[in-house]
Amino acid sequence: MIPLDNTEIWLKRLDDETFAKILTENEKEKWDQISLDEKGNLLTAMFEKPIHDFGMMYRWYYRNKWSEAMHMTGKQAPVRVLEMASGGDDTIPRTLSATFNHPQTTYVTANSNKALTAQFREYTRDIPIGIEIIEDNGIRIEDYSPNDAFDMVAHQHSVNDMIYDIICRKNGLDTVNTPWFDMYPTQHDGVSQQRI
Ligand SMILES: C[S@@+](CC[C@H](N)C(=O)[O-])C[C@H]1O[C@@H](n2cnc3c(N)ncnc32)[C@H](O)[C@@H]1O
Repeated sequence: MIPLDNTEIWLKRLDDETFAKILTENEKEKWDQISLDEKGNLLTAMFEKPIHDFGMMYRWYYRNKWSEAMHMTGKQAPVRVLEMASGGDDTIPRTLSATFNHPQTTYVTANSNKALTAQFREYTRDIPIGIEIIEDNGIRIEDYSPNDAFDMVAHQHSVNDMIYDIICRKNGLDTVNTPWFDMYPTQHDGVSQQRI
């Protein structure tokens, strides 16, 4: 299996305080409780099988990776970011806030599933930048925002989410009102609770 990223480079960053700045105060306390050896094991395991949830390591790595990507655009604060299909995940707005901290830095997501939008609101409540949620299909983004409204567009594996949404709708599922993960196949037999 090809690792997700360069293990050698990221292992060196594990005890570099610069990279811990991407965590909130509470998260930093938890991060400091994990030994360097354990961090190394988690990182290596995550790079080999990124599909599992690696808790604090997931947050530390993905936020730093996104921050690196945001810096590579060459933009300076304030920055306006659109994320397609955020679901309930706060990685992009949290990274944006830490990377381009500015009163006019803004984040917009187009996210249609109601339960995940509610979760997103809850998870992002403390993030000190302007956050707007467009509760509609991202295909209609132009109805809400002018052409030059964003400096960056972020897709965190959301292309697969958008394709999944299309397949579910074609099979008669209500992807707005059904809890999103109820539409996934179950792990043991590959059969969805609601078949698609
Ligand atoms: C699993 S979550 C997204 C996870 C997120 N991309 C991440 O990185 O963790 C799936 C979300 O994609 C949203 N979604 C899928 N297709 C969409 C579309 N065309 N417009 C808006 N939201 C969409 C669903 O509403 C749902 O909230």
